[in-house]
Amino acid sequence: MVGAIDWDRRLFDQLIPLPDGTSYNAYLIDGGEKTALLDTVDPTKTTVLMDNLIKLGIHRVDYIVSHHAEQDHSGAIPDMLMFYPDAKVVTNPKCKGMLIDLLHIEEDRFITIEDNHRISLGSKTLQFVYIPWVHWPETMGTYLVEDKIFFPCDFFGSHLATSSLFVDDEAVVYEAAKRYYAEIMMPFRTNIVKNLEKINALDIEMIAPSHGPVYNKPGFIIDAYKDWISDQPKNEVLLPYISMHHSVAKMVEHFVVALTERGIKVRQFDLAATDIGKLAMALVDAATIVIGSPTVLTGPHPNVAYACFLANALRPKAKFASIIGSYAWGGRMVEQIKELIPNLKVQLLEPVIAKGLPRDDDFAALDRLADEILAKHKELKIITSN
Ligand code: FEO
Repeated sequence: MVGAIDWDRRLFDQLIPLPDGTSYNAYLIDGGEKTALLDTVDPTKTTVLMDNLIKLGIHRVDYIVSHHAEQDHSGAIPDMLMFYPDAKVVTNPKCKGMLIDLLHIEEDRFITIEDNHRISLGSKTLQFVYIPWVHWPETMGTYLVEDKIFFPCDFFGSHLATSSLFVDDEAVVYEAAKRYYAEIMMPFRTNIVKNLEKINALDIEMIAPSHGPVYNKPGFIIDAYKDWISDQPKNEVLLPYISMHHSVAKMVEHFVVALTERGIKVRQFDLAATDIGKLAMALVDAATIVIGSPTVLTGPHPNVAYACFLANALRPKAKFASIIGSYAWGGRMVEQIKELIPNLKVQLLEPVIAKGLPRDDDFAALDRLADEILAKHKELKIITSN
């Protein structure tokens, strides 16, 4: 491993929180006759990669394999090509085009390969495996045939800075990998199903992703992915909300108790302060999403609109949704929220909207909504009690 650990990075894409930092894993494979560098690092860490190669006495690199054109892995390729003037970038035609667009790499520095193409380094063989849409269309992995190591780039990755090369605390890595899946991979769930089937044909003893520690027991992360991508959601209600003058807060408080009493797990998020990574993780499993909003300038609160936009983009597997909230003098809050979530393939359950501070009939309506969610979860056979 010759990549870099980014302990202090706290934001990715100026969007995704990184509470535990991240790493940009690059791997060097010496086959005796040829040497290959698998991916590089984020351009902010180019000197770390160079120092690691210099310390190892690597005077020649023949191939720089680029699995994915995003700059956190490809950004140091131009400097590597200057440092190793005989090196060629090995990638697929789609990734080549993207690297030319994103990094202005010269056409004659490329060798293009196709799916399942092999390159011999002497005693080591690289087999390239297309794994599109995890999470860009050009993404591929490399299978190191003799050592049975699969390098899947972002696929199976985790934003986790750690000095341990291998997973040494499965609970910590599970959390980081689930957060990563939720934020990066979840919109491509159907592609992940196909890619998992494809790599199932490989005899894999180790998975070495491009972020986070290496899995020397690959079953751990493969089983986690199988759970996350399954069509069956869990008996959970995700309840992101905002309250300005405590009306929505009172409804949320009542509703959470009503759901809990019916044996339904609730994940409540105050959108005034929530970590969107945690919200994304909750979207992985929830069968039902209930959005809580006051009415602001005739529509939902902007933080609620942002959460709806995010959930719509992440395309979770939730089956049901509803809206609870309040208004003082009117508006189109419910209609506007519905318009923000067209990608959610959910059945919309009757919203509960209070005029001002909720009254007894509003609380009764929340109880009815909790009953309906219970019935729906029972239909899905994800709840058996009550
Ligand atoms: Fe880690 Fe899609 O780059």
